[in-house]
Amino acid sequence: MKLGVVGTGYVGLVSGACFADSGNDVICVDIDEKKVERMRKGEVPIYEPGLNRVFDRSIRENRLRFTTSLEEAFKESEILFLCLPTPPGADGQADLSFVLNVADDLGELFNKYPGYRVVVNKSTVPVGTADKVREAISAKTDEEFDVVSNPEFLREGAAVEDFMKPERVVVGAGTQRAADAMRTLYEPFVRSGNPIIIMDERSSELTKYAANAILATKITFMNEIANICERVGADVDNVRRGIGTDSRIGKRFLFAGIGYGGSCFPKDVQAIHHTAGQYGYDFKILDSVMKVNELQKVSIVEKMKEYYDGDLAGKRIGVWGLAFKPETDDVREAPALYITDALAKAGATMIAYDPEANETFQAAATSVALEAMEFTTDRDEVLKGVDALVICTEWNEFRRPDLDRFPKMMKTPVIFDGRNLYDLKRAKDAGLIYVSVGRPSVGVE
Ligand code: UDX
Repeated sequence: MKLGVVGTGYVGLVSGACFADSGNDVICVDIDEKKVERMRKGEVPIYEPGLNRVFDRSIRENRLRFTTSLEEAFKESEILFLCLPTPPGADGQADLSFVLNVADDLGELFNKYPGYRVVVNKSTVPVGTADKVREAISAKTDEEFDVVSNPEFLREGAAVEDFMKPERVVVGAGTQRAADAMRTLYEPFVRSGNPIIIMDERSSELTKYAANAILATKITFMNEIANICERVGADVDNVRRGIGTDSRIGKRFLFAGIGYGGSCFPKDVQAIHHTAGQYGYDFKILDSVMKVNELQKVSIVEKMKEYYDGDLAGKRIGVWGLAFKPETDDVREAPALYITDALAKAGATMIAYDPEANETFQAAATSVALEAMEFTTDRDEVLKGVDALVICTEWNEFRRPDLDRFPKMMKTPVIFDGRNLYDLKRAKDAGLIYVSVGRPSVGVE
């Protein structure tokens, strides 16, 4: 099919490249000329495993093109995906101006290049946005079109895989014609039998928020179980295994840690809570989720303060991991931002390493944190002579270091692990003082 993708941020780029890879003709539009120029040369502007390969192949075979002209993309497309930013506005509600401005332009383009098209909202948008986009286009044209909601469920770091083999595709479509077009487009991606779930637009819009909110709640619930484990002397890993085998609960997303971050969970939990409020409903459970998550992000710093009797001044702390999760350079709402800020405020200095996010972190961290931090591209350099190591991201390369070397390299072999990477017995045998989340501490009286 002939597709247009408006906006080449994370979602637009992954969607455009993956649609092209499966044989569609895709034109991606972005207002950023420099970015478009770079993408034309085959440069992928974000780090995402597998995206380079899909990108190169599609550009080589001329199925993936880039332009700054919405008109050029519109002219040729049967389906147009809106993958535009919806940043939180001043009132906490998503700012729809990018989406609605493009909808305005589309109305005029329909008059210039008549013919039925499907306009798809792929950005995460408040309930009712499909109606607003429809109104904006209708205000300018009498041509026939449909507006569809088609939320994405891509995990950063696994976005290509999630796009190519989705567990489900959700489509909110008000007409059979639009539903059929979307089904034809997505069928190659669900050959394994996973469903394409067609529903009304509002339910589809809400599905996206509900999915992220329940996952954030699940993680937060486990973080609270971990906090109880620490107080009663239980081990959250055992509790996780004990409950995860119940298929009603499921094994995934039960890992306690230093809170959820990223570009989706924090924003979407806030947004659905806000929407509920606007409709006169107090979404109490999400209120708690947000409060618990704020505290959880700095809980490891509280443990450090406790260990050092409240005095972190002058301590030199190594930091492993800055990204909000592995396999990405994204640091949005990353716990490391809050942890480094709190450590700096407590008077500690830091040396940090992340395999991908050293630079993005420096662009996002607080000035207080940055003044107290050094960065290195050498993982071992972080350990040399430090009073303690704090682990903020569970990159694979942090999972199996030679723990026996730690006491030789560090000033004192103290690890605060926000991601529960090491076996407790292994840490003890290596002579470490090891404090993790929801598990008994090793070597602490
Ligand atoms: C999420 C959703 O998974 C995806 O479907 C949606 O489209 C966008 O938001 P993403 O933000 O990329 O994707 O990351 P994800 O892997 O879901 O992790 C989110 C956060 O939860 C991370 O901060 C991660 O560290 C945390 N997490 C996840 C836990 O603390 N424990 C877990 O068990 C799982």
